[in-house]
Amino acid sequence: MKCKICKAEAVVALRSHNAAFCPECYKDFFARQVQRGIESRKLFTRNERILVALSGGKDSLALMLELSRQGYDVTGLHIDLGIPGSSAAARAGVERFCAKHGLALMVREMSAEGLPIPQVKARLHRPVCSACGKIKRHYFNKVALDEGFDALATGHNLDDETARLFSNTLRWDTAYLSDQGPRLDSEQGFVRKVKPLWRLSEFETANYAFLMGIDVHTAPCPYSPGASFTALKGLLQRLEAAMPGRKLDFYQGFLARGRPVFARREAEEGVCLAPCTACGYPTSSGDLCGVCRIREALRDTASA
Ligand code: AMP
Ligand code: FES
Ligand code: ZN
Repeated sequence: MKCKICKAEAVVALRSHNAAFCPECYKDFFARQVQRGIESRKLFTRNERILVALSGGKDSLALMLELSRQGYDVTGLHIDLGIPGSSAAARAGVERFCAKHGLALMVREMSAEGLPIPQVKARLHRPVCSACGKIKRHYFNKVALDEGFDALATGHNLDDETARLFSNTLRWDTAYLSDQGPRLDSEQGFVRKVKPLWRLSEFETANYAFLMGIDVHTAPCPYSPGASFTALKGLLQRLEAAMPGRKLDFYQGFLARGRPVFARREAEEGVCLAPCTACGYPTSSGDLCGVCRIREALRDTASA
């Protein structure tokens, strides 16, 4: 198989693009897709400061490296969850990666914030993943705003986004359908959130990470029974195999024709947000936000 661009030996074949690439042309393809993803949805500019959430997995590290290669002003943020047998390795991987490439990194430790995930897990009587996700998102937002960043970027890829969209659609969750997408504008108390890898699949991102020699943290979280949306990702994978390109069409069609309809409906209904009385960040759930409620519950348990 020959590279579509330069006719050298190809190493990656992409059915959705009806193309194969050699290593160098594949890196150019990946860079173009990221650039198109950023420009077509006006995610951010080279004059803005972007905080990139780095878990240590292939997606966020690939995103960080590619944005810095393209001359964007990026700083990494790692949330150390304090999970034994997992968090130390993820953090070390992120620190090694940033040191190797000369990239700025900030780390926030959840144990120092009164929110070590093992204790959150012990206190809850349900799976810890959704509380953990809420805590991570709270700190992504808080650090970005406190440190004056223009946007917060995550490594979500096309497979993550289409699986989430499919899940939201199966439940006809109009609130989530109204604001899912690669760009969520900033509003009072919330920084702009962006997902620059939205055009690229997990396979495409994994190939880029491999070809760029990125050392990724692959161990799954010991608290999650499996990756999220596994069944839906499998279904969409089968659809893509039968109809190459369908995943991207589904997502782009939603952004163009679905989301605006749901967004109008949500705007009519209106959501009432007020500042959390403890941390000041907006919440719709009464006086304390979800994260401050968890912190409070842990404090009560410790002093009981
Ligand atoms: P996940 O929900 O684990 O698939 O992660 C989605 C995205 O959230 C990743 O691509 C990262 O950008 C970000 N992320 C997840 N976990 C962390 C973490 N511990 N620290 C910083 N960013 C994270
Ligand atoms: Fe949060 Fe596993 S990463 S529970
Ligand atoms: Zn709060």
